[in-house]
Amino acid sequence: MCDILNVLMGRRSVRKYRKDPVPEELLEKILEAGLYAPTGMNRQQTIILKITDPDTVRSLGFINGRLMGSEGMDAFYGAPAVLAVLSPKDDPTAVEDGCSVIANMLNEAASLGLGSCWIHRGKKQFETPEGQEILRRAGIDPDAYLGIDNVIVGYADGPQPEAAPRKEGRIFSL
Ligand SMILES: Cc1cc2nc3c(=O)[nH]c(=O)nc-3n(C[C@H](O)[C@H](O)[C@H](O)COP(=O)(O)O)c2cc1C
Repeated sequence: MCDILNVLMGRRSVRKYRKDPVPEELLEKILEAGLYAPTGMNRQQTIILKITDPDTVRSLGFINGRLMGSEGMDAFYGAPAVLAVLSPKDDPTAVEDGCSVIANMLNEAASLGLGSCWIHRGKKQFETPEGQEILRRAGIDPDAYLGIDNVIVGYADGPQPEAAPRKEGRIFSL
């Protein structure tokens, strides 16, 4: 049995990537980890849009950057792949399930030696006309799905960042 705590403690957000694409078989493992995440009442309705087409990754990264007020910034930090997570708008645990899927994928990426980072503004990015067009191209109905957030993945360009010390006083017991 591998000690998953080592993976959880070793995972760091990576914000600088090499251009090399992520091999498809590794992306498949990350996606599989997402599919095995717990979901409310095991509904398994959260979906993942895997984007590796460079032009589409970059345009979504720039849309996301614009939404954070940084026009012209690629909010995906040059990562070669993004896994965008969406849930049906009418799912009562849409956001929770999406976050569960994201966490699994981040940790699987770390276990495979890949860099990754959770990127926010998934809801807003798929409310833009350009974001909605990306969904339509993938066969996803933008009226039916809520963007949750994104996982960017790639090979880290540079050393692994240090973990911030953990804040005290966050565990309570009875
Ligand atoms: C809900 C959520 C949203 C986040 N959004 C972003 C983001 O938009 N851009 C970014 O660079 N990092 C983002 N992060 C990553 C956090 O900044 C990062 O997890 C935190 O600084 C701790 O660093 P670590 O992941 O290396 O432990 C997000 C993390 C979470 C959980």
